[in-house]
Amino acid sequence: MGSEEQTILVTGGAGFIGSHTVVQLLKEGFRVHIIDNLDNSVIEAVERVKELVGPQLSKKLRFHLGDLRNKDDLEKLFSQSRFDAVIHFAGLKAVGESVAYPRRYFDNNLVGTINLYEIMAKYNCKKMVFSSSATVYGQPEKIPCVEDFQLVALNPYGRTKLFLEEIARDIQKAEPDWRIILLRYFNPVGAHESGKIGEDPKGIPNNLMPYIQQVAVGRLPELNVYGHDYPTKDGTAIRDYIHVMDLADGHIAALRKLFMTDNIGCKAYNLGTGQGSSVLEMVAAFEKASGKKIPIKLCPRRPGDATVVYASTEKAEKELGWKAKYGIEEMCRDQWKWASTNPWGYQSKP
Ligand code: UD1
Repeated sequence: MGSEEQTILVTGGAGFIGSHTVVQLLKEGFRVHIIDNLDNSVIEAVERVKELVGPQLSKKLRFHLGDLRNKDDLEKLFSQSRFDAVIHFAGLKAVGESVAYPRRYFDNNLVGTINLYEIMAKYNCKKMVFSSSATVYGQPEKIPCVEDFQLVALNPYGRTKLFLEEIARDIQKAEPDWRIILLRYFNPVGAHESGKIGEDPKGIPNNLMPYIQQVAVGRLPELNVYGHDYPTKDGTAIRDYIHVMDLADGHIAALRKLFMTDNIGCKAYNLGTGQGSSVLEMVAAFEKASGKKIPIKLCPRRPGDATVVYASTEKAEKELGWKAKYGIEEMCRDQWKWASTNPWGYQSKP
């Protein structure tokens, strides 16, 4: 159990991965403060987290509306509370948007994170779990992706993740009392098994599973399958989909590792299952879980997409003692529970 005294700041805690991680943190006995600007999330997600964990644990959760780009918001937060560690999710993550508006990405992801390091150093809070992404492997030449592969960025979003990994390594090298874990997520999907919280993207979803979900509930007519001539078993691209609750537990494992290991330095870990699934396999699994037919349209490849990406899970298993428990059946089951009970996400039908 987390110590009564341990208080974790979760940036972006109202978002998809953040909200699921907050549930697990509270269940593990940590006190949690969220800072979120609600740019791509809603306060209702935090209300649902409270419902889910119940009134007792909810007392250990505090929400602060604030923006990491605004140093006054950070100063106010850190001057009022002492944090034992920070889990830093806040940031933008749409590849296409990052190509069109790179300054938005540099401002939110880079400036926000640099401000966060400044305030953490000032208040001597030097333990950080950072949301990186498998995007730093680019289009990998070899698979599975191993943490010591050379890193590349293929777009401004990916560049922010790559730069932020480098920034973390530089800071830790110069100031060895920092303990930093960089978690490289593969493809987070699914939802909390209660169906109370889940992913709720604004506008048309960019990612596969939220798109399939919206087809299943009738918000979108059909799924465009991008690429059916890849050299894979069924011609569609392969990814490592991971249940968001497994991902949340990966953060708890990382946090415990930080608290336990004086000289951890700055380390990167993949959070994936090590299993690849094709687009058509995901469609079939979702059809089975939902009992709904997902009409598809075969389309040309999406520019920049890799053929096969999946994780080597060895390092996380060995060093964090963490391993994903769920397969694509559970991912689809839980995502359908969320979708079928909340077809319009956190809002009622517009
Ligand atoms: C994408 C991002 C990645 C980011 C991750 C966040 C790109 C190139 N990469 O990963 O940087 O970290 O999201 O979760 O955008 N697909 C369809 N139809 C759709 C949507 C997707 O066929 O409507 C296919 C894609 O071509 C791909 C697979 O589904 O083969 C998964 O796509 P997606 O969910 O967007 O994830 P990634 O591209 O792997």
